[in-house]
Amino acid sequence: MSRTPIIAGNWKMHKSPNESVMFASELVERVASFDNAERVIAPTFLSISGVADALLGTPLQIAAQDAHWADAGAYTSQVSAEMLRGFVNYVIIGHSERRAYLHDSDEDVNKKAKAILAHGLKPIIAVGESLTQNEAGETVAFVSGQVRAALDGIVASDMAKVVIAYEPIWAIGTGLSASGAQANDIIASAVRTTVRQLYGDTIADGTRIQYGGSVKPSNMEEFMSQPDIDGALVGGASLNVDDFTALIEIASRVKGD
Ligand code: 13P
Repeated sequence: MSRTPIIAGNWKMHKSPNESVMFASELVERVASFDNAERVIAPTFLSISGVADALLGTPLQIAAQDAHWADAGAYTSQVSAEMLRGFVNYVIIGHSERRAYLHDSDEDVNKKAKAILAHGLKPIIAVGESLTQNEAGETVAFVSGQVRAALDGIVASDMAKVVIAYEPIWAIGTGLSASGAQANDIIASAVRTTVRQLYGDTIADGTRIQYGGSVKPSNMEEFMSQPDIDGALVGGASLNVDDFTALIEIASRVKGD
């Protein structure tokens, strides 16, 4: 089954509102012709509104880096999925930095996924094991547990909107990446297999699964050549317009129809 590749740049806590708008305006021109890949950027909350104005009517899509599950309430510092509606297409949830520093649990990630879907947005659910878990041979059990927990109670008819990003924690921002074959193996055996167990073949074969962790122009082709990898969630290399353009070009060329 053909799955449209999706490349998302997670800007994390980088770029001011002005820098974000300038970058988005340049990127949208540079990647205009690579239209067989979905192209997404995830600025900070502060920059989302300006970037959304700048990108109105263009094919470049926007993701938020998180969303709260409640529509509104006494949750200082948080932004709800309801508030993001109309500004973003996707919301990244479960990123390992949020899990580690802001203590997002599997249950939180699941509540966020449901709220995002309820508001007509699409979650990019990030999962991945630590170096200790990897070395202890626990990767498949741990990652499939995260996938199962994140998808708990999500109905089959919503699964076309769900993207899963496998990001081994030891590969994030370290320059160490999994090899294409290693990443494909975990994505197939832990992520897609779990979706298959939960929802059956058609949905499993249609679900898009990204790899993330030190993706850069020099290793992108290796990842995109893998049968189970449908795109990338990119940190550092998405902050540079030449690098990010190169990643999108490679995905579009290698994976596009
Ligand atoms: P790097 O590409 O900087 O390793 O970050 C990956 C990541 O965490 C994307 O969400």
